[in-house]
Amino acid sequence: MMHEVEIRQVSVYEILDLRMSVLRDGTPSQNPRYPEDDDVDSLHLAALHNDMVVATSTWLPRPWLNEPSVPATQLRGMAVAKGLQSSGIGGVLLRAGIERAVQSGSRFVWARARDTAIRFYEKHGFVVVGDQFIDEATGVGHHLVLLDVTQR
Ligand SMILES: CC(C)(COP(=O)(O)OP(=O)(O)OC[C@H]1O[C@@H](n2cnc3c(N)ncnc32)[C@H](O)[C@@H]1OP(=O)(O)O)[C@@H](O)C(=O)NCCC(=O)NCCS
Repeated sequence: MMHEVEIRQVSVYEILDLRMSVLRDGTPSQNPRYPEDDDVDSLHLAALHNDMVVATSTWLPRPWLNEPSVPATQLRGMAVAKGLQSSGIGGVLLRAGIERAVQSGSRFVWARARDTAIRFYEKHGFVVVGDQFIDEATGVGHHLVLLDVTQR
């Protein structure tokens, strides 16, 4: 069932607990912070249900590897609260973030996706690029995923 959610820009302090419980559960790193969290142009976008943060994502202006001179956005820290996964909330938040990236002039949106989440990104038009790598913070397999917003 789809829960009604509101998408809103929030401060990093409003999302750290959710990052911790979803993305740092049983992983080598217990640090939910990213170095870019406090950059002025980093956008923390959350989904709220009854004023509670139920999904989080962080969007940074950062070029895609193979096209360094083209404006692009990196998505980091995409997570939906455990009891609410697979109910469409992640998709709503992902689409809202992509829309903002497009508005800000990005041609590409890319992420380092956990292999377990790749289908989620593919459903929204991303393609997998390159070989698997193991992320240090989580110890799990990842691939780069890329959305060319002009190909949607
Ligand atoms: C991956 C995640 C952000 C997706 O958000 P969500 O709200 O659960 O996803 P939605 O309900 O919008 O979409 C679900 C679809 O994505 C796919 N999917 C891929 N990985 C999934 C996952 N780990 N959990 C749930 N759905 C997943 C499903 O196949 C589903 O497709 P279907 O509707 O055809 O069955 C969320 O499940 C999550 O936080 N997972 C754990 C943390 C994580 O892996 N984050 C991404 C790090 S790169």
